[in-house]
Amino acid sequence: RLIGTAGAAGAAGLVAGAAGGSATYAATRPDEPTALATVGSATVAFHGAHQAGITTPLQARGHLVALDLAPGAGRKEAAALLRRWSGTARRLMAGEPVGEGDTGIALDAGPSALTVTFGFGRTFFDVTKLADRRPSALDPLPAFSSDHLDARRSNGDLWVQIGSDDSLVAFHALRALLKEAGDAARVRWQMNGFNRSPGATARPMTARNLMGQVDGTNNPKPTDADFDRRIFVPAKPPAGTPGWMTGGSYAVVRRIRMLLDDWDALPVDRQELVIGRRKSDGAPLTGGTETTALALDKTGPDGKLVIPDNAHARISAPEQNGGAAMLRRPFSFHDGIGADGTPDAGLLFICWQADPLRGFVPVQRKLDRGDALSAFVRHESSGLYAVPGGPREGEYVGQRLLE
Ligand code: HEM
Repeated sequence: RLIGTAGAAGAAGLVAGAAGGSATYAATRPDEPTALATVGSATVAFHGAHQAGITTPLQARGHLVALDLAPGAGRKEAAALLRRWSGTARRLMAGEPVGEGDTGIALDAGPSALTVTFGFGRTFFDVTKLADRRPSALDPLPAFSSDHLDARRSNGDLWVQIGSDDSLVAFHALRALLKEAGDAARVRWQMNGFNRSPGATARPMTARNLMGQVDGTNNPKPTDADFDRRIFVPAKPPAGTPGWMTGGSYAVVRRIRMLLDDWDALPVDRQELVIGRRKSDGAPLTGGTETTALALDKTGPDGKLVIPDNAHARISAPEQNGGAAMLRRPFSFHDGIGADGTPDAGLLFICWQADPLRGFVPVQRKLDRGDALSAFVRHESSGLYAVPGGPREGEYVGQRLLE
């Protein structure tokens, strides 16, 4: 008896697209032990037009790692590494052991919707002497006035995103991939995140972030007519985008600290004005349900806009930004208590788009100028990565760039 697909359970309202694969979960009665067949057996396809981990429903656990190629390593070593990594990612995502030297961490578990996604940072193309094949979209992001960026936790030659609904499966994949980096690449930074576990809510619904808000409502959906155009590089790429990026996407990755003690001190009605949506169910302050469109022009009895001028949902709405759209697919993080005694917690913000200059940049520029949320968040690191299209059978990720 099936209670739903991973698509329906997608915490960000995402559905498994052609490339993301689909997964099913079987129902169990509360008095029965949970069968492996529920969360553990969910698989996501490794091969496809796009890499997994972009339209795949949010997983409960995530690891983000950036690596720099080791001194002396170049294109040949990078190609060999991507070949090794792709073979391992394919096996792990299918629930197979990695072979000799397997750590055994995930021995009893199924793949648990594991995805591994690989990307290239701007500097990768210098080290590998492939600057002539670097997409112009990897030009550095502009500086924003509210940035508090730590260079050591930003950028990097290579980026790997691991997601799984089981923490041990995710950690197992992380260990296997980092061992395989061998002498070719060294970890630059790592971040660990989480989302809600599948089955934790009475019905599949949009996730909440650590501020308690329903987050992900107005994401573009794979069923939208213009979804592919906005999120993935087309078969005939625009000027400045090399052919190897066809089917790929650009990921902007930001560690956004939430100033949770300040936020929690704000009464709920003030919190709701900051976003422009109700905290309880994510519905616009202008009424309706979570999926009702925002009535941006509506005024209250006092003549003031119901959704304030500086509300986050108003400022970031595509119609306020010349149609700019991105797919937000974040993980929350909590790394204990910071030196200042407040939670070192927030959002590992990851957004996907066909062109960061039409997605992230114009929206962040506007948010930077006067978003009510800005007083409660701090961007602490930043990365921009070219994530190539999905591998065909027998191909490794990035082969069209590196061969
Ligand atoms: C919408 C929270 C940072 C872009 C929203 C919503 C929430 C939210 C609660 C409304 C529900 C929804 O449609 O998902 C946050 C938090 C952030 C953050 C807590 C930081 C910790 C950002 C950043 C960007 C961004 C950095 C991009 C530069 C958007 C967009 C929407 C949105 C495009 C959808 C607007 C619409 O179409 O209605 N965010 N956000 N957000 N946010 Fe953020």
